[in-house]
Amino acid sequence: MRIGVPKEIKIHEYRVGLTPAGVRELVELGHELTVQTQAGAGIGFGDAAYQAAGAKIAADAAAVFANAELIVKVKESQAAEYPLLRRGQTLFTYLHLAADPAQAQALLQAGVTAIAYETVTAADGSLPLLTPMSEVAGRMSVQVAANCLQQANGGRGVLLGGVPGVESGKVVILGGGVAGTNAAEMAIGLRSDVTVVDRSTKRLRELSSLFGASVKTVYATTATIEALVAEADVVIGAVLIPGASAPKLVTRAMLKTMKPGAVLVDISIDQGGCFETSRPTTHAAPTYVVDGIVHYCVSNMPGAVPRTSTLALTNATLSYVKQLAQLGVMPALTNDAHFANGLNVHQGQITHPAVAQALGLSFRPYRIAA
Ligand SMILES: NC(=O)c1ccc[n+]([C@@H]2O[C@H](COP(=O)([O-])OP(=O)(O)OC[C@H]3O[C@@H](n4cnc5c(N)ncnc54)[C@H](O)[C@@H]3O)[C@@H](O)[C@H]2O)c1
Repeated sequence: MRIGVPKEIKIHEYRVGLTPAGVRELVELGHELTVQTQAGAGIGFGDAAYQAAGAKIAADAAAVFANAELIVKVKESQAAEYPLLRRGQTLFTYLHLAADPAQAQALLQAGVTAIAYETVTAADGSLPLLTPMSEVAGRMSVQVAANCLQQANGGRGVLLGGVPGVESGKVVILGGGVAGTNAAEMAIGLRSDVTVVDRSTKRLRELSSLFGASVKTVYATTATIEALVAEADVVIGAVLIPGASAPKLVTRAMLKTMKPGAVLVDISIDQGGCFETSRPTTHAAPTYVVDGIVHYCVSNMPGAVPRTSTLALTNATLSYVKQLAQLGVMPALTNDAHFANGLNVHQGQITHPAVAQALGLSFRPYRIAA
């Protein structure tokens, strides 16, 4: 198969869809790899490393897209990439279509087959291609929150870990899934006072046995969230309803009850955000203030630690790229119902029910042969 890896063009995005090690494995299987020049340069993977792994280097994105049957990326396609997509081509990347109607229309019109990393499932119901980035974002959320809490950065001047004789900062984590659990680990590591809120009692039990007395677990209701938010120094939003827009758990009215200079980190911003006052920000200008509350809503947090993130992501995606390349795209999906859950767009139709619902568009399931 002809596989293309373009350079990411979202602002401050240095990750890349395949590492030289991944390219080498695919080349050894007989596939033809084209990598855009400088695609991995920002994280120490220069063109020479890709060439040594057996890839051809293309001068620009147009050359990568024109040649490839399968495009492997990291971020959703950007407006400048829309005209490069074509019918019959497969795009394998994060899409986050529920919150991005413009991209959905572009993919539908182009007639591409688009497989979203974030909706591929595993047998245990987890999301194996979202997991590594949720781990990164969850761990990062606590270090950015600690930074935002500093007075010079607009925060309330609280040290998360406190010091002997002074109490720790209060961290409330909404959603105790992968990102929330990793946030909790880091917050505990910094000696903060940690509460995890979830609507799954099963997950709350697991967290309680995992962390013991180091975390408080609270069932999510409007009343419990209202009470916790009012006391918090940091609220981390890490909820997910797969494929759908995030529920707005913290309202604008709740902000007025919070301590001035408290910090909201909305990891769920890539699904529309779980705070009513969230709007996507970038690493160039990551925060803004509403009603005295610092908001950090960067939609590609792992982009700030692109080397770690690329290695973690490609550890997870490579086996799926191999399946697509070895079996062909639709046979690979037909072969694996969990992989097929990644299919969001095919032949001008939305093929994922939650994505269609969020966008208010019609939905046509892709039928897996029995
Ligand atoms: N901003 C970024 O750069 C970035 C990076 C990676 C992941 N993410 C996002 O982080 C979010 C979390 O991802 P994850 O992998 O941890 O998901 P996950 O499925 O592992 O966890 C989500 C948790 O949210 C809980 N939940 C759902 N609705 C809830 C509600 N109404 N109240 C309380 N809890 C609720 C679920 O029970 C689950 O435990 C996703 O939106 C994901 O796209 C963002």
